[in-house]
Amino acid sequence: MQTRVFEIYDSANKDISAVCEILKNGGVVALPTETVYGLAANAQNKDAVQKIFAAKGRPADNPLIVHIANKEELAPLVKEIPQEAQRCIDAFWPGPFTVILPKTDAIPPITSGGLDTVAVRMPSNPVINAVISGCGFPLAAPSANISGKPSPTKASHVIEDMQGKIEGIVKSYDCTVGVESTVVSFINGEVRLLRPGGITLEMLQKEVPDIIVDDGVLHTVKKALSPGMKYKHYAPNCNVTLIQGSSSAFCDFADKSGLFAICLKEDEKHLKNNYISLGDNPETTLFSSLRKLDELGIKRAVCHAPDKSGTGLAVYNRMLRACGFNIVKLPFIIGVTGPSGSGKTSLGMAAKNLGITAIDCDKFAKDIVESLKTELCEAFGDDIYKNGKLDRALLADRAFSSAEDIEKLNKITLPRILSALKQKIKEIEKGFVILDGATLIESGGADMCNRLIAVLSKKEDRLSRFSKRDNLNIRSAQKRLTAAKDDSFYKAAATDVIENTATMEEFSKNCQELLQNIISFKER
Ligand code: TXA
Ligand code: MG
Repeated sequence: MQTRVFEIYDSANKDISAVCEILKNGGVVALPTETVYGLAANAQNKDAVQKIFAAKGRPADNPLIVHIANKEELAPLVKEIPQEAQRCIDAFWPGPFTVILPKTDAIPPITSGGLDTVAVRMPSNPVINAVISGCGFPLAAPSANISGKPSPTKASHVIEDMQGKIEGIVKSYDCTVGVESTVVSFINGEVRLLRPGGITLEMLQKEVPDIIVDDGVLHTVKKALSPGMKYKHYAPNCNVTLIQGSSSAFCDFADKSGLFAICLKEDEKHLKNNYISLGDNPETTLFSSLRKLDELGIKRAVCHAPDKSGTGLAVYNRMLRACGFNIVKLPFIIGVTGPSGSGKTSLGMAAKNLGITAIDCDKFAKDIVESLKTELCEAFGDDIYKNGKLDRALLADRAFSSAEDIEKLNKITLPRILSALKQKIKEIEKGFVILDGATLIESGGADMCNRLIAVLSKKEDRLSRFSKRDNLNIRSAQKRLTAAKDDSFYKAAATDVIENTATMEEFSKNCQELLQNIISFKER
C-alpha cells in the first residue's frame, strides 16, 4: 500500500482536510498526540477499526481507546458518567487521561474488544483534535507501533513500523508526554487505576482519594482488567533485564557484568560501560531509548528502574513489560555451597579476583548464635555459657543428641541468622555478592540466592582436604564424611555445578570462568 506522508505542525494546516478525507473513507492514518503517536480510524466503523488491528498485528481482545475533541462528545458513547469520573474529566481533559465507562451501542464491539465498556480520552494535541473535529466522528487510536514494540514518540518511529501498511502518516513534533495516557476504570462504583501515565497517581488521589491501584500495574496478572497489560509489551528485540537498586549498586552491577546500560541521570557520572541515559525526564526518553538498543544491534542490556513516585510509576510499569517481567533486585546474590572439603574456598578467591564481596555464612552464623544467650540457655541449660562465652562443644553435644533437639536449635537460630543476613545484604551497595555456606540449602539461605553454585568433589579428595585443614583424626574425619549429604542433594537445588576434579590451577581457572559467565549473564 502507498502510504501518504503529511507534515502537519499546527491545526490550521490545509492538509488536515486531506487527512479527514482518508478517515471518512474508512482509512487508517497515524496521528500525533501529546502522549505517543496513535493509529487512528473511525471508531464507529467496524471495517475501518478492523484495519487498525491488522496493521498493528494486535490481538482482537485488546480494546482500543476512543478519542474525542470536546467533552460533550463523551455522553452519547457511554451509559453514565459517575461523579468521580466527571471530577477527573474536569481536572485532566484535555490531556493524557482515559476513562473506562459502560458503553452504548454507538461503539461497535470490535472497538471495545468485545467488552461492554469503552475507553475514551480527549487529547490536548491540537493537530489530532482538529482532525477529530473535521471528521465529525470519534477516532479509535491505539499507539502506532507494531503490537508488542515500544510505542512511537517520534514520527520516524511510526514510519519505521507503519510505512506501507496504512493510508497515511502525519509527521509532526515529538510527543511531549512520552508515555501513553493514564487509564482509570469507573465501573461497578469503583475507581481503579489500570495503567499509570502522564497524569500521576498523586494527581488522581487529589480528585479521587479512594482510587485503587490495580495489581496489573506492578505485577503480571493472569486475568488483566486492562487486556493490554497482560502482554509482553513495549519490548525491543534486545533482551533487557530490569535492575532495582541504588545508583552505586547499579553502576557496580553494570561495570562488573559489562552489559550495555539504560541508566538514570544520577548514574551517568559513575558508569564505565556504554550507556543510554534516560536523562531528566525518563518518561519522554524511555521508548526511544528502547528502540535505540535495536538500532545499535545490542543483544542484551540492563535497565535501571526509577523510583515509583510521580511519573516514575508509569516508567516503571512500561519497563517491567519491556523486560518481560525479568527483574533483578541488587545485590545479585550468588550462593556457593557443597560438602565440607569440596573446594568452596577456590570460588571465594575467584570472586575476590573479580572484586566481588563474599560473606562467609558459617562465620556469620557463629556470631549470631553467640548472641542468643537467653533462648539457648532456656533450651539447653545455663551451663552452655561459661564466663559469658558460649561453649560450642557442649551445645553441639546437647543439640545433636536427638532429632527433636536439632529441630529446637534450628528453630531458635535459623530465623535470626537469616534475617540478620538479609539485613546485612540489604546494606551492601554492590552489584554482586557471594554467600558462601556449607548448609545454604538446609538453612533456607539458598532461597535468597539468584544463582546457586554447588562445588562437588570426590569423597577421598574431600576427606584428605578437611582432615589436613581441620586437623582431624581418622575416626572423626570418617564420621564427617558419612554425615555429609550426597551429590544428588546439591545437584537438585543448584543452578550451576562445578566439579573439583582437575588440578588446583585448572580448578581455579574454571571457578573464575564460571563466575565470569554468571555475572555477565552468558546464556547457559
Ligand atoms: O496515550 C494513549 O492512550 C495512546 C494515544 C494514541 O492516545 N493510546 C494508547 O492506546 O495507548 P493502546 O491501544 O496502545 O492502549 C489502550 C489500553 C490498553 O491497555 C487496553 O487494554 C486498555 O487501554 N483498554 C481499552 N479499552 C479498555 C476497556 N474497555 N477496559 C479496560 N481496558 C481498556
Ligand atoms: Mg499500545
